Amino acid sequence: PIPVIIDCDTGVDDALALLFAVRHPGIDLRAVTCVAGNTDVDGVVRNTLTVLEQAGAPDIPVARGAERPLIEPARSARHVHGVDGMGDLGLPVPARTRVDVDAVTLLRREILASPRPVTLIPLAPLTNIALLLRTHPEVVRNIERIVFMGGAVATGNATPVAEFNVWHDPEAAAVLLTAGVPITMYGLDVFQRVVVPGTDVRRLRDSAEPGTRLAGELLAHRDPATSGDPTPSGGLGDAGAVCAVADPAGIGTRLLPVEVSLAPGPTRGQTIVDLRPRPGESEIHGGGREQALVDVALEVDVERFVKLYLATVERA
Ligand code: BDR
Ligand code: CA
Repeated sequence: PIPVIIDCDTGVDDALALLFAVRHPGIDLRAVTCVAGNTDVDGVVRNTLTVLEQAGAPDIPVARGAERPLIEPARSARHVHGVDGMGDLGLPVPARTRVDVDAVTLLRREILASPRPVTLIPLAPLTNIALLLRTHPEVVRNIERIVFMGGAVATGNATPVAEFNVWHDPEAAAVLLTAGVPITMYGLDVFQRVVVPGTDVRRLRDSAEPGTRLAGELLAHRDPATSGDPTPSGGLGDAGAVCAVADPAGIGTRLLPVEVSLAPGPTRGQTIVDLRPRPGESEIHGGGREQALVDVALEVDVERFVKLYLATVERA
């Protein structure tokens, strides 16, 4: 299996991603690190511990990370993910409530200790990852690649042009993009397309197995437009990025220059993806700035990922 570390802000769809990672036989989830984003970092830690317990994986190392972005003050997205940051589903309090290691320390330790290079999957603002890369640049030699959920080629969600994870900490995203490791961007364009049909969501919700049932409840929460509907459909969200690691053929990518707008004002946090046919030949290309080449997901095989997700979370 592929050694994987997930950095997340659990989070309804982060929880869906954790459930999948724990149950996929091709993934060896070695650690989970938490960062402020969907809710405050202590809430993220609590939610993460709950999900791992419900998924039957209570022993995976978990760490608490950054409380706020590198430069901006803390903000929360409670309007999307509920007061508890995970849909206010009334989940049980986890048996493990404390974690005694910080995220950068755990990331460094697990990356360097892994016998095979690690795939890092950030599903949240990139603060922990930027701090890791700046504090311990030597980790790069044992990172296979970074597949992150964030950014958008087209429309944003936090602002008209910026996706939440990048917008929340744009400087951290800029550090990630120039890390010098292969990077795949699983952005909003594909993120929003992978939706589980209502009949499948209902089957998951009716399951007697706690992890499977939790996946169903989280999926049902995802789409406010259909709440109250007996068979609401639900987006995989962040879990799609983990599917893309387990089954890379499910996405279509192109290697493209990507830059984050750090300017104050309406473009802040936008990922500017250069889709010009031959950007290298343009005089204005890059303007002398450091340009990262990123594998940008432009296509996703929705049916394939839905099937993969269901087959994985339903194996208890
Ligand atoms: C991202 O923001 C969060 O709300 C989701 O968990 C996802 O990581 C989407 O913009
Ligand atoms: Ca997230």
